Amino acid sequence: MKFEHLFSPITMRGVKFSNRVQRTSMASGLATEDGNVTEALTERYIREAKGGVGALVVEAAVVIPSKSPYNIRLSSDEYVPGLKAMVNAIRAASPETKIGLQIMQFLKLSRSGWRQRVEDFKPEEIPQIVANHAAAARRAVEAGFDFIEIHCAHAYCLASFLSRANKRTDQYGGNLTNRMRLPVEVFEACRKEVGENFPLGVRINGEDFHLNGNTLVQSSKIAIKFAQLGADYVSVSAGSSFEDAVTPAEGHPPDPMSGYSGHRMSPGFWWPDGTHVFLSEGIREAVREAGYETPIIIAGKIREPAHAEKILAQGKADVIGLCRALLADPDWCVKAKEDRTKDIVRCAACNWCFDADARYEKVNCVRWPEGLLSCPENFGPAQARPGAIDKKLL
Ligand SMILES: Cc1cc2nc3c(=O)[nH]c(=O)nc-3n(C[C@H](O)[C@H](O)[C@H](O)COP(=O)(O)O)c2cc1C
Repeated sequence: MKFEHLFSPITMRGVKFSNRVQRTSMASGLATEDGNVTEALTERYIREAKGGVGALVVEAAVVIPSKSPYNIRLSSDEYVPGLKAMVNAIRAASPETKIGLQIMQFLKLSRSGWRQRVEDFKPEEIPQIVANHAAAARRAVEAGFDFIEIHCAHAYCLASFLSRANKRTDQYGGNLTNRMRLPVEVFEACRKEVGENFPLGVRINGEDFHLNGNTLVQSSKIAIKFAQLGADYVSVSAGSSFEDAVTPAEGHPPDPMSGYSGHRMSPGFWWPDGTHVFLSEGIREAVREAGYETPIIIAGKIREPAHAEKILAQGKADVIGLCRALLADPDWCVKAKEDRTKDIVRCAACNWCFDADARYEKVNCVRWPEGLLSCPENFGPAQARPGAIDKKLL
């Protein structure tokens, strides 16, 4: 086989993933306003799973009852049946694909420009954060997911506790040991809920990419700690922070995707392919040196199967995370496996999808025919919508 590493299986706690491609979490805006699953959402995931990914991480499910329109939720038992039906439908369409769920607590925002900070949590409120994640983990198991990912990356609650920008003066802030305390408590509580036979991964930032953020120095230590706790994988992402967000327009909440760090999360066309591979390479080396074999996942503008194969062959990561590349062409895996690489509809890294998300719109791809919410079947070489990318700027 041409891409031997990419299409070799990997097993985590007895769960076998058929290849080394993980579709990373991607907010879609396709849930209902109150966080329920829709037909469009299920169709999106069915279409992606049918393209042959080993693992598919369903977008961040909110673990707290606060309002968060169009994000899926797991803040109460009432959301379990909808998610269960979706998982069953994806599994029926693609029995080989293992289906995961990212669980996430966000920090609250207001149109007045106010945003909740980690320093705002009173000490007596911290156990609730742990309990929220643990309850969501239990519900995800009930809904039939194959694995869970705890969201400790980007601008959300747990990543903000991990960040050097966390200036709490109690045991949950300040030095790195203290900043890791809450994510560690969350991980341990989730493990208790899901048991020893269920894969539980974490997503962290390899670098926050703002002045007060973590770098590889801190993220390596964070990854080692999760490896020591028995995390089944560490998925390495980057960026997205309120610290360097641009000042929002009047009546709009702050947007963690608006600054430099935000744009690092999903590198645009002006960044090189494999933008963040140096982060997974550094983290993997540190984790291996500490004596752990924990799989390290890397995403960030990896678009070509040959490039993905090389990253794995060179030991710079164990699993390749694809997000926008699979949105552009959900058949990426099937085409790579069948040696039809030239048929892959390339992600232009134009961030049409990213911009839609930032505007709280439904996320789709510039390369699909106008108006479609999912990639059409029999997706051949794409006809891009004109004007998506100005090649002169490359
Ligand atoms: C529209 C959009 C929504 C995203 N939502 C999430 C999310 O909910 N959770 C997450 O961990 N990452 C999220 N990401 C980041 C992706 O998972 C991925 O790490 C990033 O886009 C880089 O990978 P790529 O170059 O393959 O797209 C999102 C990215 C985009 C473009």
